[in-house]
Amino acid sequence: MESVKLGILGMGTVASGLVNIIEFNKSKVVNNLNKELIINKVLVNNLDKERNVNLQKEVYTTDAYEVINDKNVEIIVELIGGINPAYEYIKAALNNKKHVVTANKALIATHGSELENIAFKNNVKLMYEASVGGGIPILNTMRENLCANELESVFGIINGTTNYILTQMTENELDYDQAVKEAQKLGFAEADPSSDVDGDDAAYKLSILASLAFGQKINVKDITKEGITKISKQDIINAKELGYNIKLLASGIKKDNKIELSVHPSFIPENHPLSTVKNEFNAVFLKGNAVGEIMLYGKGAGSLPTGSAVLGDIMYIVKYSDKEAVNNENKQKYIIENKAVKQYYIRMTVVDKPGVLGGIASIFGKHSVSLASVVQKQKNGNHTVSLVFITHESERINIDIALEEIKKSETVTNIESILLVENFR
Ligand code: HSE
Repeated sequence: MESVKLGILGMGTVASGLVNIIEFNKSKVVNNLNKELIINKVLVNNLDKERNVNLQKEVYTTDAYEVINDKNVEIIVELIGGINPAYEYIKAALNNKKHVVTANKALIATHGSELENIAFKNNVKLMYEASVGGGIPILNTMRENLCANELESVFGIINGTTNYILTQMTENELDYDQAVKEAQKLGFAEADPSSDVDGDDAAYKLSILASLAFGQKINVKDITKEGITKISKQDIINAKELGYNIKLLASGIKKDNKIELSVHPSFIPENHPLSTVKNEFNAVFLKGNAVGEIMLYGKGAGSLPTGSAVLGDIMYIVKYSDKEAVNNENKQKYIIENKAVKQYYIRMTVVDKPGVLGGIASIFGKHSVSLASVVQKQKNGNHTVSLVFITHESERINIDIALEEIKKSETVTNIESILLVENFR
């Protein structure tokens, strides 16, 4: 039987998942491809480390170029993560006319267009399904199955760590720090969770999703981003009372010739499908002009789910490597404009005395922010109370200007939180 030889850069969680799936689904792979997949060379840091994969010692090397320059290897699988040296390795592999599969979101978000061009020039493929949503086959679904649609919007819960933290705060009433510790204990959050909780990981993934959805390169710096570190138990309780769940929502919305992009903790109506996405699970909710609404749901990380996406790309390349490479045009078609015209939830602590609420409401009015509802929550025991405002749709800049003025008032102790209310209109 013919075989296709693979070179793997890295042997961590995802790579070991890949190797194990190739072994336990061997007959499925062979039946599908009519070829065998052979792992020829693997780059590791430490040759002596015990690994839970069934590979001969001889395949391992500590020299990346032994993998990249191996004449027998047709496909390089990059699973070391981070931008450098993965960027140099992938460029070298593509210029060596080898197909590349990667799970590296930071690299694709930053250098994806350039690498796609290098792949095109060398008539090889660059695939990165595992970079967004782990095991969820979202990129290839958009690229292939939804190619008959103009995509109008893409919404995602695409960071499992933050979704786990927010779910635990909602369902088990943990406070933020307790939920982070729990996520670390279970291996979802890193010792330094900042890339997840500050929204960077989700922003990288949104830039990849939105580039594909709208056919235009979206830079991470064009995405308005806010993490979940300021979310308190009180906001979660208030959201629940109002019929919402708080999620870290990545969104890309196209209207006329404009695109709006953000990663922001948001109120999601409890009856919306994205509200049902709990714990470490991810989901992407799309609207196409022909298909309508569609949601893909699954595990956004982990050895086997992410390995499944990587192997799917490898098998695609084996089946379609004869197909001419396509140069995905990435012409600037849309203007990026993040006005964030949304409803907002605003919680503040104020002194409990006559006229305070009226004063705040008139400042909002002065800056064209119309209020949909106001609730006085609890007395805090020090002559202060919590006020919760839900606005009508307003531009974020007007909200910020109004709050700057409100903050200066002697009767306002603190602006506690500002969250988007996403109604998916
Ligand atoms: N850290 C990511 C998450 C998984 O929490 O979803 C890898 O993309």
